[in-house]
Amino acid sequence: MAAAATTARKLVTPHPSRHSRDRVEARTTALVALPFEMQFSSLGSKLERSPIRTATNSARAAKERGEDVVSLAGGLPSAELFAMRSMSVDGVEVEGADDVLQYHSGKGNPGLLEKVARLQHSLHEGKYGIACTTGNTDALVKTIELLTEPGDPVFTETPTWPGFLSQLAPRDRAAVGVAMDERGVIPHALDAALAKETGTQQRVFYTVPAGQNPTGVTVDDDRKRQIYEICRRRNVVIVEDDPYYFLRLDGNPLSASYLSLDRDGRVVRLDSASKILAPGIRLGWISGPELFVEKYVLLAETSTQFPSGLAQLAVSHLLDRDFSGHLDRIAADYRRRRDLLVTTLEENLDATLADWNLPTCGMFLWVKQHVSPDARHLVDDFVEKGVAVVPGHCFATTRDLQCPYFRLTFAFGSDDDIRKGAARIAAVLKDKAANE
Ligand SMILES: Cc1ncc(COP(=O)(O)O)c(C=O)c1O
Repeated sequence: MAAAATTARKLVTPHPSRHSRDRVEARTTALVALPFEMQFSSLGSKLERSPIRTATNSARAAKERGEDVVSLAGGLPSAELFAMRSMSVDGVEVEGADDVLQYHSGKGNPGLLEKVARLQHSLHEGKYGIACTTGNTDALVKTIELLTEPGDPVFTETPTWPGFLSQLAPRDRAAVGVAMDERGVIPHALDAALAKETGTQQRVFYTVPAGQNPTGVTVDDDRKRQIYEICRRRNVVIVEDDPYYFLRLDGNPLSASYLSLDRDGRVVRLDSASKILAPGIRLGWISGPELFVEKYVLLAETSTQFPSGLAQLAVSHLLDRDFSGHLDRIAADYRRRRDLLVTTLEENLDATLADWNLPTCGMFLWVKQHVSPDARHLVDDFVEKGVAVVPGHCFATTRDLQCPYFRLTFAFGSDDDIRKGAARIAAVLKDKAANE
């Protein structure tokens, strides 16, 4: 329960207040003079504000100021004719369905934005803008399209989340993998990789700093500072994808995010409701330099427009419903599941066959087996025994790499599945070792 207590202490439960909208606007729109000038791709530079939105928004703002303005501008359907007018979350009727079901800004509805801003500013120091997203996957596509051109390299930890790698190749961005150790990406390896890709133009470094997928590694404050300084020196934007941030398994204090270390305006941070509320909600939030967030919103408005109003209302409600208690409960349960997986593996295997580092955050155990130089050669045996794992090469920036690791998750299965799966993995490894 220690993890729970730490998380709870740091969180400010977001709740609305009378002048909240003004305050959020002030916080999220104040332009700050920063020494780093973010460069945008040609796509980013060509984005324009929609004239229809401009007309509609200025009429709305005038009306809110009490002016007698009638808007016949935006093509908004009548709220009176919506097919649904109310909504409940987990059996509780929530207010505001009429409003969130209407067309809205790509930034998110003011009510949700205010709560998210409160939460962010209670956890991450600094001045930055915020917009709601439809989850980190989509927000990453947009971020990469805003910050890089086709042909550009994108630096990333290797191994890393294949969902990100699969975005790069079809968009003609080359993933440049940088080696990791048990504390995250290795600073001198990052520096060397950046030095090799010559030119002084801005580069992007993508990182998953807590409970990394797949290694489970969480980067400590000192390592983050070293990485940040390298990125300053080498003209790099840090894209911090942090969906496992709240899943602290061992009660360690939440480490300082890159966003809160940022003094220049070179960090874009992505948070997601997927691992803490539910992935089907499809909602997250992006924080970064105000100009970046403005571009992000303009880009979103050309495609997804804005996250679903239903999702926004659900999250707005869930953030108010003992959010920190909920985080404590899920972290405690994931810790229990992690321990069950590890204990069962230890009971069935000795360290000559496999080892791992205990993850302190997230959902994954990254297992190094010692019976084959490449875990993909064991996949068929695992399947035959009735257990699915992901072999390590799937996470590498160079797929033909021999990789002795495989990834397990302790988040999804029942206790029985975890026990059975671990015992089956152990049986395969023992069998293989005996038949060498
Ligand atoms: C590192 C990482 N980023 C992003 C995602 C997806 O996030 P979202 O559900 O918000 O799109 C995942 C989930 O699988 C992930 O592991």
